Amino acid sequence: MAMRSGFKSRFGFIAAAAGSAVGLGNIWGFPFMTGQNGGAIFLLIYLICIVLIGYPIMVGEIAIGRKTQANPYGAYKALGGRLWALVGFFGVLCGVMILSFYNVIAGWAFGYFLEISFFDLLKTEDYGAHFGGFVQNVGANMLFSGLFMILTAIVVVRGIQNGIEAAAKIMMPMLFVLLFILIGYGLSLDGAGEGINFYLNPDFSKLSITTIYTAMGQAFFSLSLGMGALITYGSYISKKENIISAAGIVSAADTSVAFLAGLLTFPLVFSQGIMPTEGPGLVFIALPGVFEGMGSIGPLIGGTFFFLLSLAALTSTISLLEVPVSFMVDEWKISRPVAVIILATLIYAVGIPSLLSQGAVPGLTEFVSYSGGPKDFLTVILNIFNEVGLPLGGCLMSIFIAIQWKTHNLSEEISFGNPHYKGSFMEKFLNVMITFVCPVVLAVIVTITILQKFLGFEIV
Ligand code: TRP
Repeated sequence: MAMRSGFKSRFGFIAAAAGSAVGLGNIWGFPFMTGQNGGAIFLLIYLICIVLIGYPIMVGEIAIGRKTQANPYGAYKALGGRLWALVGFFGVLCGVMILSFYNVIAGWAFGYFLEISFFDLLKTEDYGAHFGGFVQNVGANMLFSGLFMILTAIVVVRGIQNGIEAAAKIMMPMLFVLLFILIGYGLSLDGAGEGINFYLNPDFSKLSITTIYTAMGQAFFSLSLGMGALITYGSYISKKENIISAAGIVSAADTSVAFLAGLLTFPLVFSQGIMPTEGPGLVFIALPGVFEGMGSIGPLIGGTFFFLLSLAALTSTISLLEVPVSFMVDEWKISRPVAVIILATLIYAVGIPSLLSQGAVPGLTEFVSYSGGPKDFLTVILNIFNEVGLPLGGCLMSIFIAIQWKTHNLSEEISFGNPHYKGSFMEKFLNVMITFVCPVVLAVIVTITILQKFLGFEIV
């Protein structure tokens, strides 16, 4: 059998996987969820979730992908038969649904880039009101998210080496540099200290089960876990790759960007008197004010920031689209360009209700009510997949490794590219986590989330 065409270099895989991980989840999602869930305590729980659950699941996904050289459906089928293949299929479906709303938010970032750079957004009086109006503008958002989907499709058509790898290598480092510059600036503002206190000084009285399951969902989302995106990327890497260190670098890069995004956002939020509990609009409301304060270079710096945010989103949408595309190409023998066109169109269409749910259409804006109030359609999809879909996928994957594929086969696969793995502390840690801790913790969390958040039972 011909080898799948893969990543050219070790750095290429790491850049692409980190590119998949680093995205709107870090810069848009993480600050707003931290703001809504008590600040520093959320950060603390989030970090624990990354180390104890996220990292082991990431290693497991990459190993399954490299072992089977297949998309998630094909991978589960190869190692576990038809029934397990359903888990892979569920992952492919999650990818479709997540991309449908993710693309809408990527359109917001792209729209803000254009407005700040070319249309005087920074002369606005009230950034909260502006954002509220912006997301209701159906025509503009259809255009921005449409353009974004086309960009994603172009990269995915070009395939692994020329598209994904090349794109990720340039964009990621630039984003880091700009974040550092902006943080330095933000920390110099009045009121920054209060923001730092909120973000870094945990208030244990704010700890609740909601904090825990939101943090767990966010950890999965941010690391791109639970639906087989890293099974797919893992299927393109060589046996010489050291999965343990690659996954370590990817997790560390992702966690640092989320951490830095918080360090940037909260000083700005407090210095401008914005509520940290503002929700999904948080960074879109807090950041423009600070760019405005920079005077004549504001539009340039602000434009660059939202440009890089769009690029970070692009390296993530690429990975989300790549999953169903590789499924169609492998399983249905459809050519890559045709699969991309079909899926991009379909997913764009599936995203339209999310796009319309930000005020444009009342029935979608107040779609259903749970956990204390009406929720818009986009939030419903986000909650279902972020807090249930992905952790459930991770739970099933760890059970799959434990009872079906078996940890000694996992160790065998990891040993390629890491000859000292067997017998190491890391092997013991990962085996215990994957066999006992991940399945139990994730099953409990998913159950509690469904009962409490969606069905309204007061559990804890
Ligand atoms: N991790 C990305 C972010 O933080 C989003 C993402 C890309 C994703 N691929 C994924 C989430 C696969 C879950 C699964 O923005």
